[in-house]
Amino acid sequence: LQRVAQIFSIYWPKFLTGLAATLGLALITVIGGTLLGTILALVKLSKNKFVKFLSSAYVEIIRGTPLLLQLWLFVTIFAMFGNDQMIVSVITALVINSSAYVAEIIRGGIMSVDKGQWEAAKSLGMSNQHMMVKIIFPQAFKTILPSLGNEFIMMVKETSLASTFYIGELMTANNVVKTATYFSLETLTITAIIYFVATFTLSKLVNYMERRLSVSD
Ligand code: ARG
Repeated sequence: LQRVAQIFSIYWPKFLTGLAATLGLALITVIGGTLLGTILALVKLSKNKFVKFLSSAYVEIIRGTPLLLQLWLFVTIFAMFGNDQMIVSVITALVINSSAYVAEIIRGGIMSVDKGQWEAAKSLGMSNQHMMVKIIFPQAFKTILPSLGNEFIMMVKETSLASTFYIGELMTANNVVKTATYFSLETLTITAIIYFVATFTLSKLVNYMERRLSVSD
């Protein structure tokens, strides 16, 4: 325990920069994933059979293969085109991975809106677009937002896979400190505590948000 405190007192800036990078990377991933995922969800809900099939295939393939494999795939493909900026390949893979999960979150949120709401909007003669923007989205939002919060928490942990490519997030910081000190267990303990404090705090925030959003029901 003394060694844990000692290592932290020397290397805390490394861990904190790592945590900041982890949070930043997770945020970029979820924002990108939400933009792409929204498009996918809308396409999946559309009537065009062909594009529907394409987006379903995309979602299934992404969710059916490991994120670590996808990271390797994009790093490899981008390297073939002369890109040596790991961070670009990593962010691409993370965003694509997240978009498949977010697509399902958004599709689920939209479909969870009571059938009567759709019928009422239609019977009022609303256009599809008007109905979506004014009636469906505001209600779907309440279930979607907390799930996006959970996706963010998930990505805080999942971005650790990107440490394979040494991109400087918290797990990379862990490996750097481990190599510098040779104290693996102590370093892992510190990293675990930091991840846990981050995800625990974030999940409390998501719970709070969820409660606030359901008050208006
Ligand atoms: N670790 C799992 C994988 O490798 C889950 C990825 C979860 N991704 C997400 N965007 N929620 O496939």
